[in-house]
Amino acid sequence: MTTFSANLSHLANSAANKAMPYPGKLVEIASLEKSRAAFDEISQWPGYQATPLYPLDSIARRIGVRGIFYKDESQRFHLKSFKALGGAFAVARQLKNRILQETGETASIDDLLDKRFQSLVEKIVISCATDGNHGRSVAWGCQLFGCGCVIYIHRDVSVGREQAMEAFGAEVIRIDGNYDASVKQADSDAEIHGRIIVSDTSYAGYMDIPRDVAIGYTVMLAEAVEQMQGAIPTHVFIQAGVGGLAASVCAYFWELWGDRRPRFIVVEPEQANCLQQSAASGKPVAVKGDLETLMAGLSCGEVSLLAWEILEPGADDFMTLSEDAVAPCMRLLASNDPAIEAGESAVAGLAAAIASREDPEMAAKLGLDESSLIFVIGTEGATDPELYQQLVTS
Ligand SMILES: Cc1ncc(COP(=O)(O)O)c(C=O)c1O
Repeated sequence: MTTFSANLSHLANSAANKAMPYPGKLVEIASLEKSRAAFDEISQWPGYQATPLYPLDSIARRIGVRGIFYKDESQRFHLKSFKALGGAFAVARQLKNRILQETGETASIDDLLDKRFQSLVEKIVISCATDGNHGRSVAWGCQLFGCGCVIYIHRDVSVGREQAMEAFGAEVIRIDGNYDASVKQADSDAEIHGRIIVSDTSYAGYMDIPRDVAIGYTVMLAEAVEQMQGAIPTHVFIQAGVGGLAASVCAYFWELWGDRRPRFIVVEPEQANCLQQSAASGKPVAVKGDLETLMAGLSCGEVSLLAWEILEPGADDFMTLSEDAVAPCMRLLASNDPAIEAGESAVAGLAAAIASREDPEMAAKLGLDESSLIFVIGTEGATDPELYQQLVTS
């Protein structure tokens, strides 16, 4: 009997090149050197602690693989998602840039934390549009470093998520439209009021800030590599929205392990599979439709261009996962020993790995068998506590 029911779709990436060393042109976007610098900085933030890496032994035995490593980001900096690492890191970078421009001085992270340039920093206002986790990170970073913050949310963002950002001192503006409308409003208001937009997705002409966001994410990979104590997974299943997270994981493991790197599998919701559709078309394409999915953090219709640069040659497979697998996988983790809190977007990678192993045809396509060692990231905890309770107790 299978662990839960799920529909999977699969596209082998015809542009992938396993033998190719990490390309020099990607070093500009992501590199181990940039990641080390981010680690040195983020590990000095107050409250920094490595998050746990759990071996899911009983699930591994049940599905017949050598092991599963689950990097649990549910408590990262008490913000409840890996996103805590990215937005706040990019905020710090922007503040340092502005300090350099205006004073000629190079500020350190201690200078920012000690508020050494406070009279300048407090006049800077950072802004973004968000449907939750990224905005929480930006708001928290602004509070930590002492600048202003205005966050735009759309009509469907839950009140709980809105309040979480307000609790970090951000002004939160709810607009009567969808996510794209909130992005447009944030951009045009930033232009009028001279605010800096810190977004987690890149597009032509807007690359540097989302690159910093993605480099911040790699702190969890440095921790995970150390926690795996020399083991190299054979398969990595990573969930994607715009692809920023997947690209950072792909680049990090590619440069670190070269041709010994794991098979890299990107997982998206069925209705929001912009990476899979882009891979099928050989270029970035936007997904039409309402992008409806329980996995709110993955509900994205357009790929981040920087992420695409990395995933086009670096990802081996693009999969989609159906909605019916989400709640059962959350419950599976909640009843694990130790219990793991995993939100809706957290479980996509693990659910796809389990469902793939239990589907003989898919397992054969992905080379999943009893010798496989799987790495996944539980990217969030109960970021919407009401919905979490509903789904784990349903
Ligand atoms: C919990 C969670 N997991 C995964 C992702 C996907 O990240 P990306 O949009 O960089 O692909 C997000 C994005 O917001 C998220 O909030």
